[in-house]
Amino acid sequence: RQPVDSPLYPLLDAAAGYYRQSLKSHPARKAAVEYLKSRGLSGVIARDFGLGFAPPGWDNLMKHLGGDALQHKAMLDAGLLIENTETGRSYDRFRDRVMFPIRDSRGRIIAFGGRVLGDDKPKYLNSPETPVFHKGQELYGLFEARKANRDLDEIMVVEGYMDVIALAQQGLRNAVATLGTATSDEHLKRLFRIVPSVLFCFDGDAAGRKAAWRALEATLPNLQDGKRARFLFLPDGEDPDSLVRHEGTDAFRARINQHAQPLADYFFQQLSEEADPRSLEGKAHLVTLAAPLIDRIPGNHLRTLMRQRLSEITGLSGEMLQQVAQSTPPAP
Ligand code: GTP
Ligand code: MN
Ligand code: MN
Ligand code: MN
Ligand code: MN
Repeated sequence: RQPVDSPLYPLLDAAAGYYRQSLKSHPARKAAVEYLKSRGLSGVIARDFGLGFAPPGWDNLMKHLGGDALQHKAMLDAGLLIENTETGRSYDRFRDRVMFPIRDSRGRIIAFGGRVLGDDKPKYLNSPETPVFHKGQELYGLFEARKANRDLDEIMVVEGYMDVIALAQQGLRNAVATLGTATSDEHLKRLFRIVPSVLFCFDGDAAGRKAAWRALEATLPNLQDGKRARFLFLPDGEDPDSLVRHEGTDAFRARINQHAQPLADYFFQQLSEEADPRSLEGKAHLVTLAAPLIDRIPGNHLRTLMRQRLSEITGLSGEMLQQVAQSTPPAP
């Protein structure tokens, strides 16, 4: 998955060290410290996650890491520098941002996310794909979550860096975030190798609801017997960061206990909104939507039970469902 050894690792590590140090002592650090405070973060949690600061300016990191042509090339390869192809000049990718180091499962720094201190765009800037960083596979906070918990039994998947960190600060140290990409098959495979249960908790907005359904689709082919997924839907306009701050840890835990929806419940609820099972047409539509998805589940018990549930809702026997599944023509 990743090279065992690469000159990019020590370089990324040195960059993280520079960003951390800049948060402590760079003359321009005050705005970053104020920003982190305004987001309610403590010094302890900033240290746990190795947060840093990329100072304003075009070549702070480039000058700090210095070195020869080989080193310069490695900094470009690591995504730390950007080269202007017209002028041939290079400059720091991350400028005037709070820096979130992204670690792999062994704790090596492989990339960064950087957030502006205010409302400028783009709000977040991530490292590009590099030989050591593949966005669609990595989960921000996974290393930290495993380090903080000897026995993890459930991992919470959230959208953003700040969600992971805010939850951790409130004592919920089992959250990870996808890196601005949809939840992928690789993500699920990795998660289910570590825990039997995954809790998806995305933002309470249209994008978050869409992300939840995509996460469900990525989960289905990975649901062996003994694995499960749950979904927690947040009030509109809230994300895990804002909500855990508003209501506190206990209320957030209670919310999970009371409102996290098992995958099968969410599945049938969502599809019943698209195909109203009160009419025959709706029932027929529901079968065409649900049956192929249920068939992707590898775990025999859950697949059988969900087929049974579909039978109950539509009135079609298991045998008839089988026939429908076989006779459903491919989408045009
Ligand atoms: P905060 O404003 O810091 O609380 O961010 P957020 O995490 O709540 O942001 P949002 O819900 O808008 O986005 C969720 C995640 O999507 C972020 O954590 C980023 O990983 C990613 N993201 C958001 N905005 C951008 C952007 O402008 N560029 C990129 N590349 N990723 C983004
Ligand atoms: Mn690779
Ligand atoms: Mn959002
Ligand atoms: Mn947020
Ligand atoms: Mn958000």
